[in-house]
Amino acid sequence: MVRGGRPLYGTAQVPAAKNSVLPLLAASLLCGGPVRLRGVPRLSDVEGCMALLRGVGCAAAWDGGDVVVSGRAACCRLPAGETARLRASVLFAAPLLGRLGRAETALPGGCNIGARPVDWHLGALEQMGARVCQVGQRLVLSAPSGLHGACLSLPGPSVGATETALLAGCAARGRTVVENAALEPEILDLAQFLNRCGGCVEGAGTSRIVIEGGRRLHGTAYRPMPDRIFASTLACAVASARGRVTIAGCSPGLYAPVLDVLEQAGCWVLRGAGWASVGRAGPLRGVGLLETGVYPGLATDAAPLVAAALLSARGQTVLVDHVFEARFGCAGGFKAMGAAVSVRGRTLHIHGGRPLHGADVTAGDLRGGAALVVAALGARGSSRIAGREYIARGYGGLEEMLRSLGARIG
Ligand code: UD1
Repeated sequence: MVRGGRPLYGTAQVPAAKNSVLPLLAASLLCGGPVRLRGVPRLSDVEGCMALLRGVGCAAAWDGGDVVVSGRAACCRLPAGETARLRASVLFAAPLLGRLGRAETALPGGCNIGARPVDWHLGALEQMGARVCQVGQRLVLSAPSGLHGACLSLPGPSVGATETALLAGCAARGRTVVENAALEPEILDLAQFLNRCGGCVEGAGTSRIVIEGGRRLHGTAYRPMPDRIFASTLACAVASARGRVTIAGCSPGLYAPVLDVLEQAGCWVLRGAGWASVGRAGPLRGVGLLETGVYPGLATDAAPLVAAALLSARGQTVLVDHVFEARFGCAGGFKAMGAAVSVRGRTLHIHGGRPLHGADVTAGDLRGGAALVVAALGARGSSRIAGREYIARGYGGLEEMLRSLGARIG
């Protein structure tokens, strides 16, 4: 339940990035000693990945705000329920293949934002010596004589496929070169973690990554990078609800396109080292054409959030998501709140200018669900948002945080 129309004031601390924590949990399968991830948010996707680790024989437990993973994988079969639910489950295949020579899994699930094939992950593993057998939803990968290094040219700069290539490359004999690698900062975070554990990954953050494989990895304690999409969510929440909030613990450069768009729409933004302050007092204006892209472009995950902030801005905004074809499933909820929006293919048109009112709406995916919360914060009256489990996949403590900033939410 969100009762909108209350401005937000105060300071909010950005938690660690879900999209970093999940690959780091997969990477811990490669480590010979315990791994401690510091300051991990309690999210259902994190719990799901911990269940995957336990399913293959590791220990994975909370220690306060940290997650500690220890023990070696003894079983190559990932638990079916969790694999099918989580997109990130595909990242567990490469380390299991490297460690045990076999991985049994299922086609991964994840949010309903369009087709999410894993062919580029599987293609990379095949080039590194894996045999892939798919029967229905079930995937069996084997590499009885281990993985070997390879020159990989990814068909597209996929975040997940780059992570699979990094994980496989560390487990493989010899050198792996990944061309057309994704540039997202979570890739750099994974590479830094692997190097901290004794791996040798160079070039992460550029489109060409080189991995010297075959090194024994040890455990480490590591603090994952901050969640740039959580930070974007807070910035959009202030733009929607009005007020002034300092977003701490996340470099504004990590979500610069979101801050730039909000500024263009009429918010003011102050940027510091590791923080940004976002404020809105008056009306917003539409910003015309906005397109998502790979990093450092506007993140696809941020697109529905930005849309939610601009729903009642005067003038048009047109958002095109080039990454996923069904990103704007939340448009029905926006309409129910009185917004003048329409979706055609990958494009969301916001005609703008209409005040929002509370409504009963349903989240259909993680970021779309968060976008409904952002819109509801700026709407007059109460909104009931169903499908909270989608939002819980990626936001821990969002309600408490928004409440501490003055929102009426519960
Ligand atoms: C990750 C993020 C997700 C974000 C996305 C894009 C995690 C856990 N999730 O998802 O929040 O929205 O990056 O920034 O980190 N593709 C293929 N075949 C493949 C792999 C990808 O065709 O084997 C296509 C996808 O359909 C999509 C595009 O590549 O159109 C980008 O997807 P990708 O970068 O792989 O996204 P994820 O890693 O799944």
